[in-house]
Amino acid sequence: MRIDILTLFPEMFESPLNTSILKRAQEQGIVAVTVTNIRDFATDKYRKVDDKPYGGGPGMVMMPGPVFDCFAHVEKLAPHRGRVILLTPQGQRFGQAKARELAGQSRLILIAGRYEGFDERIRIGLGAEPISIGDYVLNGGELPALVIIEAVVRLLPGALGDEESAKEESFSDGGLLEYPQYTRPEVFRGMKVPEVLLSGDHGRIAQWRRAQAVERTKNWRPDLFEARDHEREN
Ligand code: 6GU
Repeated sequence: MRIDILTLFPEMFESPLNTSILKRAQEQGIVAVTVTNIRDFATDKYRKVDDKPYGGGPGMVMMPGPVFDCFAHVEKLAPHRGRVILLTPQGQRFGQAKARELAGQSRLILIAGRYEGFDERIRIGLGAEPISIGDYVLNGGELPALVIIEAVVRLLPGALGDEESAKEESFSDGGLLEYPQYTRPEVFRGMKVPEVLLSGDHGRIAQWRRAQAVERTKNWRPDLFEARDHEREN
């Protein structure tokens, strides 16, 4: 997969993309990522990329010119266009199903905005799909772009060890939350590891874990519990 990011703050991508699984996935050739500064495509001497909204109102709006020119440059970095995503709190909410869908693409172009928003002609002209990561307001689309990249890249074949790779199935649509985990020591600050986990009885352990997962989902995520897909359980 290839991922191209358009942003006014390329430095925000440096350490996340150069740490742990995202770093390794790039080194292994599973994903190639580029980060391009929209401001490099400003045309005036002040490198202006935003302006006041027509019709009045507070804040500034991202101008279409620099974003279009940046996009035209980025588009030429590879022969195929892939999916174009506009990060905005007005977009459709990102979730595990969307992560899986995007993981099936060969290229993603992510456009992160700042200020009060994008000139509407950016979305229309670039055929970009607006996506949000949740119902709260952030200062820009950079952290959301990183959230999407991390959720997508870990689904690419080879990005994780085999052990970890099955895990996403359980959470997200149709699943239960994970059961509680324990490791050594057996007693920590007076808190004991549940006896069943030390019993060596795999049947009882599986039963206990299942019951814990159900209980935890009911209590912590009643919304998920109500919506769960009975077909897919176990
Ligand atoms: Cl994609 N952008 C901004 N600015 N805020 C958000 C968001 C995106 N998703 C949730 N909040």
